[in-house]
Amino acid sequence: MTILSRYAGWPVIAGAGLAGLSTALHLECPCVLLSAASPGDDAASSLAQGGLAAAVGPDDCPDLHAADTIAAGAGLCDQTVVRAITAAGPQTVETLLNLGVPFARNPEGSLSLHLEAAHSHPRIVYANGDASGAAIMKTLVARVKNTPRITVIENCVLTGLRIENGDLHGVRTSQGFIPTRICVMASGGIGALYAGATSPQGCTGSGLAIAARAGAELTDMEFTQFHPTALDTGSRSGRRPLISEAVRGAGGRLVDETGKTFTDELAPRDVVARAIAAHQSEGHRVFLDARSLSAGPFSNLFPGITTACLAIGVNPEQQPIPVRPAMHYHMGGIATDARGRSSIPGLWAVGEVACNGLHGANRLASNSLLEAFVTGQWTAGDLNGKSIEIMPSFRPGLEASRFSSKLDVSNAFMEHAGILRNATGLRRLLEKVTPYVDYDQNALIAAFVAQAALNRRESRGSHFRTDDISQAQSLNHQRPETFENQYSG
Ligand code: SIN
Repeated sequence: MTILSRYAGWPVIAGAGLAGLSTALHLECPCVLLSAASPGDDAASSLAQGGLAAAVGPDDCPDLHAADTIAAGAGLCDQTVVRAITAAGPQTVETLLNLGVPFARNPEGSLSLHLEAAHSHPRIVYANGDASGAAIMKTLVARVKNTPRITVIENCVLTGLRIENGDLHGVRTSQGFIPTRICVMASGGIGALYAGATSPQGCTGSGLAIAARAGAELTDMEFTQFHPTALDTGSRSGRRPLISEAVRGAGGRLVDETGKTFTDELAPRDVVARAIAAHQSEGHRVFLDARSLSAGPFSNLFPGITTACLAIGVNPEQQPIPVRPAMHYHMGGIATDARGRSSIPGLWAVGEVACNGLHGANRLASNSLLEAFVTGQWTAGDLNGKSIEIMPSFRPGLEASRFSSKLDVSNAFMEHAGILRNATGLRRLLEKVTPYVDYDQNALIAAFVAQAALNRRESRGSHFRTDDISQAQSLNHQRPETFENQYSG
């Protein structure tokens, strides 16, 4: 195997989405950035439509943003992390503006803000209509390319970690082995393992599986978020274009084929996704009717979504848009603190692959771009304080073993670990994948999600168990008490 000795000792960042780019830009030493395609091209960050959440509006403040994040997280957020990241929101917007991100402004010059579900205030900064992620990524990719200390290796993915005596001693990539004591996993989520997801095809959880195999602690693996409104292209599998929550924030209404509304459009996204899935399971079709938005013509407000709709023959200014929920974001991942430190010395994790407690059981819309930028910055800050050890020698025979990703888990994953789950289905999924977990990373990820979902017998946030009896039980328990209280004294 080729040894990439010229990078020996440099921090290696595995993944070139927003979290990876932010880490690389905030480091002060030479580093290697592994990019599966050209930087940004295969990243979920580039597809983000709504924008970045930050308390920059006139009546808003980070405490309110934190309260909304904690409410959405259904009791499982790490409140210290939430407060720190939401507090960093306004400065992050300022930094991105200074870097050149063209966030939209109102005619008098203030930032224009979208409202999204479960936010108490409009607080989503956005750019180029609905191409916010792409605008942020374009700006940062240009910065990375103009930063000589960052070496981008394109068309290169992480394939293994070398751990010796519990510490990281190198990373194996598709182009060779890099001896290093520092790896920042920024490899994104697991959406592409599901049939029907908004994520790019590269989001297969490979970094997560490699970290798991290396012994990293994982957490909250059962919490997979389904976006309520992806474009219903008629196909049950493959990528489904996102129809941003900002469309509902701008007044788009969810209706069925009879034109009737059946849910509150601005309820948290897990609630809306379940309402749509339930309505569809009763044989209804669901549409987002955005034909008359008070802020202006749809195609001006949402040009990218307009293009995606026209591609399937739907003109959103004249017809309701057919929608269906799709796998969108994984809240769980490699357990880290706010500086990105994992349980393995030498391994940090940032962005969707990591779980630092910001999202809890359900991510608040548009918090992920904020998290990616801020935790990339904090991880770099943590690393900047370290002396970068140059590896004196390396033994190529010891690098971590590879494993494949051939098992197609997509339909079983969606069926049994989708919006609605129960023990029978989760056990079925586990039985299907368990024989392969030692050598197939798709099987390993599916097994982790299924086992975590099986272990959590309650419904919470994005994790909904149809066989959860805790709510019924708690109602039964409350009743006699209420009666007792009423009649006592
Ligand atoms: C959206 O625009 O609806 C997606 C925003 C997000 O997932 O954070």
